[in-house]
Amino acid sequence: MLNDDTRDKLIAAARDAARNAHAPYSRFGVGAAVLLTDGNVVTGANFENASYGLSLCAETVALATVSSMGRLADVVAIGVIGGAMDVTGIARGLTPVRPCGRCRQVINEAAQIGDRDVVVWCGGAEGDAVEHYLLSELLPHAFGPRDLQ
Ligand code: THU
Repeated sequence: MLNDDTRDKLIAAARDAARNAHAPYSRFGVGAAVLLTDGNVVTGANFENASYGLSLCAETVALATVSSMGRLADVVAIGVIGGAMDVTGIARGLTPVRPCGRCRQVINEAAQIGDRDVVVWCGGAEGDAVEHYLLSELLPHAFGPRDLQ
């Protein structure tokens, strides 16, 4: 399931999702695509707000949808891409986007609920370079639902 084809499919889905980024303030579009155990893919894009601090990242938007589907325990991997938008609103650039600290914590909620070290693929808005991480590398010694037991 976690092969190069899956990676390419998730990154492509994240790039599609980024087209719907609502990011008029940062002009930085991000898309995320979450792979579930049954192969389904759930996407999200960043969702900014005129009250800037209320803005939501793409990964958080996608995982909130997964949670509302009752599928938080089924998260296997997540693909994230992003880049500065051009004048037409399309995200551009080759530099991989890695989840922010808050999103790492949000991904950890799914990881611990599902007892799975979630794979995180990070790409730019364009180009072929995609980085591979495990959540445990991005957020070692995480605090999570297990600590509340
Ligand atoms: N952003 C994400 O959507 N995910 C991340 O992991 C990093 C940052 C968004 C938040 C904001 O809308 C824009 O990128 C610039 O920070």
